[in-house]
Amino acid sequence: MSSPKREYLCKVLVVGDLGVGKTSIIQRYVHNIYSHCYRATIGVDFALKILNWEKNTVVRLQLWDIAGQERFGHMTRLYYREAAGALVVCDLGRAATLHSVIRWKEDLDSKVSLKNGKPIPMILIGNKCDLIPYGVNCQNIEDMCQELGFTDCHMTSAKENVNINQAMSTLIKQMVANMEECESTNDPNISDCQLP
Ligand code: GTP
Ligand code: MG
Repeated sequence: MSSPKREYLCKVLVVGDLGVGKTSIIQRYVHNIYSHCYRATIGVDFALKILNWEKNTVVRLQLWDIAGQERFGHMTRLYYREAAGALVVCDLGRAATLHSVIRWKEDLDSKVSLKNGKPIPMILIGNKCDLIPYGVNCQNIEDMCQELGFTDCHMTSAKENVNINQAMSTLIKQMVANMEECESTNDPNISDCQLP
C-alpha cells in the first residue's frame, strides 16, 4: 500500500541588483526559455512550478521575482512575508553586484525568518558564468557564501542553462527538510507548516 501524497507550498524570493538575471533564471527554470532583451521588472512578478519531489511528495514553488530597484523601496517587508527560501543573485561580470549581496542578505535577515525563528535557507547565485573572463572571482563568492551564512552557492548561466536546476534543487531540499521538521514538532491536526 502506498503512503499518502504530501504537498508542500513553498514561497521563494529571488532578489539581487538590477539586471543580474533574476527574471532570466526564473524563465529558464520554469519555461526553459531565454531572451537577450532586457526588460526591467517593475515591482514584483510571479511564476509557479509544480514538481514531483521524491516519492509521494509534490512541491508547489511560488517564485517571487522582485525587481532590483526594490531594494531602495518600502515594499520588501510585504513581499518577503512567509517566504520559505530565497535566491540572492549577483552578476559575475559586475563586482558591484556582489557587494550588494551583503545588503540584500541583511534586508532578508531583518525582515523574514522561519516560524521557529531560524533564518530561511538562502542560496547565493553568481549568474552569467558564460561570460569569460569573469569580473568577479568565484573564490570571492565562495568566501562570501561562508562568511554570510548562506546555505550554499552556485555559479549559473540562464543563457546556457548551467546549474539552474542544481541551485533550485539545493534550495528545495532544505525547504522540504524544514517543513518536515516543522510537521514533526507540531500537532498534525493543526498543521502550521504550509506556507504562505
Ligand atoms: P531587474 O528586473 O531589472 O531587476 O533585472 P533582472 O535581474 O531580472 O535581469 P534580467 O533577467 O532581465 O536580465 C538582464 C540582462 O542580462 C538581459 O539582457 C539578459 O538577457 C541578460 N542575462 C541574464 N542571464 C544571463 C546569463 O546567464 N548570461 C548572459 N550572458 N546574460 C544574461
Ligand atoms: Mg527582472
